[in-house]
Amino acid sequence: MTFHVIDLIRTKRDGGRLSDDAVDWLVRAYTDGAVADEQMAAFLMAVVWRGMEPAELTRWTAAMVASGERLDLSGVGRPTVDKHSTGGVGDKVSLVVVPLVAACGAAVPQLAGRGLGHTGGTLDKMESIPGWQAALPPDRMRAVLRDVGGFMAAAGAGLAPADRKLYALRDVTGTVESIPLIASSIMSKKIAEGTSALLLDVKVGSGAFLTSPADARLLAETMVELGNAEGVATEALLTGMDTPLGRTAGHALEVAEAVETLCGGGPVDLVEVTVALARRMLALVGLDGGADPADVLAAGTAYDTWRRMVTAQGGDPDAALPSAEHVETVYAPAGGFLRTLEARAVGVAAWRLGAGRSRKEDPVSATAGVRWLAAVGDRVSARSPLLELHTHDPARLPAALEALTNAVEIGDTPPVVEPLIRDRIHL
Ligand code: URA
Repeated sequence: MTFHVIDLIRTKRDGGRLSDDAVDWLVRAYTDGAVADEQMAAFLMAVVWRGMEPAELTRWTAAMVASGERLDLSGVGRPTVDKHSTGGVGDKVSLVVVPLVAACGAAVPQLAGRGLGHTGGTLDKMESIPGWQAALPPDRMRAVLRDVGGFMAAAGAGLAPADRKLYALRDVTGTVESIPLIASSIMSKKIAEGTSALLLDVKVGSGAFLTSPADARLLAETMVELGNAEGVATEALLTGMDTPLGRTAGHALEVAEAVETLCGGGPVDLVEVTVALARRMLALVGLDGGADPADVLAAGTAYDTWRRMVTAQGGDPDAALPSAEHVETVYAPAGGFLRTLEARAVGVAAWRLGAGRSRKEDPVSATAGVRWLAAVGDRVSARSPLLELHTHDPARLPAALEALTNAVEIGDTPPVVEPLIRDRIHL
């Protein structure tokens, strides 16, 4: 069936709903180049204002999945489960949870992304390991899942190509901030990767992609519905992101912290979120009757899986990670309790030190980042070392320091710390 794109733009502009056939046609025609960027931009802006009805969004997401291939992981011999985070500062949970859940018996096919803005991307972090390659052809993905139990890799061009085009257009037309568009973008890629179950880690708080708790909850609910509608057992945890996670933000710094955690150590907040996610991932595929992820992590068993995963993608797990040439220490301005360490400010500082990119093509520095030497709630002494700023280029330090101007609050009373795991969203 053929439609006139202008009619579809007008329908959405006036608050109407597209028919299933119209949705299928529009997504296909845009992916094939028959609908122009300016027409799709107008349609997307209409979606930003008017939204999509639930059934319309389900169809839109299915059409995005159908624009490319859907990986078949049925032969890997273990149940498949992935996790996706909406992005946070210091969020290296994937690096720990993928080998951990694999060590507990599931297969974790993680197609990950790169960072843009103040939050980091898993692939950028993994690429700080000498030799490690993000590209993994589908046959190798299946082999690694069978033999090792998990991978973290880049999505190939054949997976949800409609999203690739739509996301690039949304990026330059002010149409990223729309819950139906974000939900369909994330879920089309996760559904196409072929996982049978998916746990979403939706971040809430000042350092999160969506800072309003109500928006974060609505995004989580929307994605949970989309996943289940497409036959992927999906649920979400809402987790706090007012304070950065762990003790580091920056690629090589975060890999080192993930390894420390896999070996049975690591910061308590990182361990708490990782274990909560791992337990739900295993429950989604019926493997929650086996070893508890907290015990597996504490015993260091998942580190062996990590080493095999890194090796399977060309990396050397024994190679030294790169380290920054310049480390600037920031001292506590007063003594007392560390009441606030603002996640977004730390993320922006790490980005300005060289860890982030402004455009998708920009290179990132593996060694740049921030380490904080105290956690929120800790007592600190006046003029004791509080933050380390790592960079290859000292000219970047003033802008990073500027980002941190109001990031730290020290007071006489301990802060009220909200629980990290805020809620679970499931059908
Ligand atoms: N991440 C995605 O993959 N898509 C969005 O729209 C936003 C974040």
